[in-house]
Amino acid sequence: MGYVRAIEASLAPGDHTTVEARGWDLLVVNVDGDYLVVENSCTHAKAELSKGRLDGSEITCAEHGARFDLRSGACVGPPATQSVPKFDARVKDGFVEVKIDKIKVARRPQFGPMN
Ligand code: FES
Repeated sequence: MGYVRAIEASLAPGDHTTVEARGWDLLVVNVDGDYLVVENSCTHAKAELSKGRLDGSEITCAEHGARFDLRSGACVGPPATQSVPKFDARVKDGFVEVKIDKIKVARRPQFGPMN
């Protein structure tokens, strides 16, 4: 699966937005000119990460304070222990495009178990 056009590449550095793409609720953040994309769902108790506090490339969940590195998706602070799905992104023709691979989509419960 290739890249999916997500949003216009018009976010200022430090700004963020959310977008739905192929069944994923995505958080898109401009960090120093780089568009970083993760699933908009904390791996602790599924709070929306878009409501968290951004500090550089790190976001702190507004619900219980778990921290994630948006460059890798890695969980870097409790109470969450799992990384958040991270997606490759690129800017093309003035739009942010997100690469959504089959494995990540297949892992989502709404699509049922893989056979
Ligand atoms: S839901 Fe994010 S830290 Fe609990």
